[in-house]
Amino acid sequence: MKITCAGHACIFIEAEKNIVTDPFISGNPQCGLSLDGLPKTDVILLTHGHGDHLGDTAEIAKRDGSLVVAPVELAVWLNIKGVKAHPMNFGSMDLGFGRLSMVTATHSSSVSENGSAVNTGNACGYVIRTGGKTIYFAGDTGLSADMALLADEKPDLAFLPVGGNYTMDAEDAVRAARMIKPALCVPIHYDTMPAITLKEKERLLLQSEGFRFLKPGEAITL
Ligand code: NI
Ligand code: MN
Repeated sequence: MKITCAGHACIFIEAEKNIVTDPFISGNPQCGLSLDGLPKTDVILLTHGHGDHLGDTAEIAKRDGSLVVAPVELAVWLNIKGVKAHPMNFGSMDLGFGRLSMVTATHSSSVSENGSAVNTGNACGYVIRTGGKTIYFAGDTGLSADMALLADEKPDLAFLPVGGNYTMDAEDAVRAARMIKPALCVPIHYDTMPAITLKEKERLLLQSEGFRFLKPGEAITL
């Protein structure tokens, strides 16, 4: 399967279905993609309601008829806005591409509406099993002991936030990777805004721990 990083927390997984996580595309300074150039998206996995994750969900879902998966309260908010969304609440489900598990993230979830923050429940991560592979997508999260449970999944790939401030920083991401033990770790959620700019020594730390940096637009085959 082909996995393309679009910058920040937006990842395209092309397997049995075309899956995208947190499609922050048009407002993403790191993402060189345009909505027009995207392949048809079958599934959108949302981790929470913050604008740098909700991104272009409505536009893509309306254009492609994508299945949108989100934590319950965010799914309800999307449904009110006319975007049909499948609610999950830290369960597992087969949605036509393999078993999907919603897993814990230590983060908040809200959407901005008329200048105020509307609470949209809990933030989450996902374990995506598709095409014979297991991918952990952490979303926005701090370091948590729950991550040790993910080692049982024997992930082929883990996307971990490393930018700090709103999520784990590089040091905590290294601790997370030691708990999760994925075959490969790819950093996300850095360099898109001043508060999450990665320092050179953090980049070197992550590289020395085997993290593989993907530039926006860069793809790997799993
Ligand atoms: Ni967030
Ligand atoms: Mn974020």
